[in-house]
Amino acid sequence: MNQVPRTPAGSLRKQHAGSSVRLEGWVNRRRDHGDLVFIDLRDRSGIAQIVFDAQFLPSPEILERAKELRAEFVLEVIGEVVPRDGGAVNAELPSGEVEVRATALTILNRSDTPPFPIEDGVKASEDLRLKYRYLDLRRPEMTAKFVLRSQVAFRIREILHRDGFLEVETPILTKSTPEGARDFLVPSRNQQGEFYALPQSPQLFKQLLMVSGLERYYQIARCFRDEDLRADRQPEFTQVDIEMSFPDEEQIFELIERLFVAVFPASGISCPVPFRRISYDEAMERYGVDRPDTRFGLELGTLDVSMSPSEILRKAETVKGFAVPNGSAFPRKRLDELEAAAKSLGAGGLIWIKTAAEAGAPWNSNAKKMLDDATLASIRKGLVVHDGDLVVVVGGKKKTVNDVLSTLRVQVAREEKLIPEGRYEFLWVTGFPLLEWHEEDGRWYAMHHPFTSPHPEDVELLESDPGKVRARAYDIVLNGMELGGGSIRIHRPDIQARVFSRLGIQAEEARAKFGFLLDAFRFGAPPHGGIALGLDRILMILSRSPSIRDVIAFPKTASGSCLMTDSPGPVSDDQLRELGISLAKPRISPL
Ligand code: AMO
Repeated sequence: MNQVPRTPAGSLRKQHAGSSVRLEGWVNRRRDHGDLVFIDLRDRSGIAQIVFDAQFLPSPEILERAKELRAEFVLEVIGEVVPRDGGAVNAELPSGEVEVRATALTILNRSDTPPFPIEDGVKASEDLRLKYRYLDLRRPEMTAKFVLRSQVAFRIREILHRDGFLEVETPILTKSTPEGARDFLVPSRNQQGEFYALPQSPQLFKQLLMVSGLERYYQIARCFRDEDLRADRQPEFTQVDIEMSFPDEEQIFELIERLFVAVFPASGISCPVPFRRISYDEAMERYGVDRPDTRFGLELGTLDVSMSPSEILRKAETVKGFAVPNGSAFPRKRLDELEAAAKSLGAGGLIWIKTAAEAGAPWNSNAKKMLDDATLASIRKGLVVHDGDLVVVVGGKKKTVNDVLSTLRVQVAREEKLIPEGRYEFLWVTGFPLLEWHEEDGRWYAMHHPFTSPHPEDVELLESDPGKVRARAYDIVLNGMELGGGSIRIHRPDIQARVFSRLGIQAEEARAKFGFLLDAFRFGAPPHGGIALGLDRILMILSRSPSIRDVIAFPKTASGSCLMTDSPGPVSDDQLRELGISLAKPRISPL
């Protein structure tokens, strides 16, 4: 039986001097000075120094046991808090003005030598850290991220609860929801040959909850998408998923701004509201992407090259470029690298122009034959160019030009250190088109998802001019990262059917896939809309983590594996037989 309650190690302060405490935690470090053994004891709250001093110990046997302690042993220590001598104060430790003079020690468990030191800034490879993730999470900088994650989720829940949102869980074993990625499939044993899909998002269920009359729903929801991974993408991730009945865009913007104000400033990130808004068209024109990083210049401009001696340039669907301040000093190697980067991103080529450092002095380019003085002058007119700047130009298909230049813009800004540190620019992107045309398979795709409402004035264009239909969709973007997206939805079965049809989903297929939604819309579906925030991405920003893996307790690697559990892994032939599955390629090592 424990008489004294446990005290968190990191909570000890000067005013606790004289009190008896009982600590439980891990050995962070041990220093042995003969009659004195010092232990840094770590628990979730921080570190406290324990001193085993022969003079004060009830029996010498305790000192002997203290000498046996090694890193990551688990201990219970009872002792008295004493102030440290002036010279021994550790200003780096919140508990550094005191130490605990031990009177009792219990070793609760031993530990093998850990594969890497349990400390901040550890040099171990990420693979090793992921294999022993439970040890990695013991490191204070990692622990802090999960303390923050829990606090942020709690704060969000608190606000949504106060606003009358109901937390409702939706199925994980479900049917595919088209959010644009591949599904993870789960075979059914009872109905062989049939599959569940893990939800890419709770989109359809949250809409159905609005039909159910719940009016305000939220869920901190796990979503699954089998897509290529990046620094801000995981195959399973968490959304703060929100839906409301009878909303307009303004209500949703106000709610999200309030949620952000509740979490960003607490991490030292100022969050002035209302956030700036930018239209999709403006974002694409000035930055080449729908999630622009507006913290720095290098803005894109469309260039008039109708006078160019080059037919290729004249005939390009679009020609855009940006100017790099003082970029005329770039060495040839760097320009070649820029050109190679543009090509690897799909451009036919890249034109660079080194403007003259002084007016009237000669300029230089890798494409002098394509440029005459008139073209050069018109290019300069399309951008803000100062003498000595480098101008980067790409021509071709609109989508390619925007993809290439938006990527190069960020790359050059990073290399030139033009991105101000500590600056956070929140942005609503609005006015998306409903549909986008994909050349590869010659059909329209939903820009967000097929349940997004067209702008009421544009519904008639669905058939006559689909590319012109505006969507009631919005994204929330921070420093070039999409933190969330949502829309006002379609709630009428006739309009939903027309959008499906425009997307090439025939009536029969629509019925098979989404019959339940179309049915639900026939029974008094209220107007509704919502948004989903990427919780992991928000945590990345709040905890200043470069990778999404840092804020997920047990994340997957870029190839989608969990190095700790070794998943995905094979299953036994019996399991496969039960599911009626046979493998096209037999496993290399059968179970
Ligand atoms: P969307 O697909 O835009 O919208 O997703 C919403 C937000 O979820 C985050 N996100 C991801 N985070 C980590 N890894 C991923 N693979 C990943 N994919 C998306 C992003 C994104 O902005 N049902 C709609 C929402 C709605 O319309 O209400 C949806 O899922 O931060």
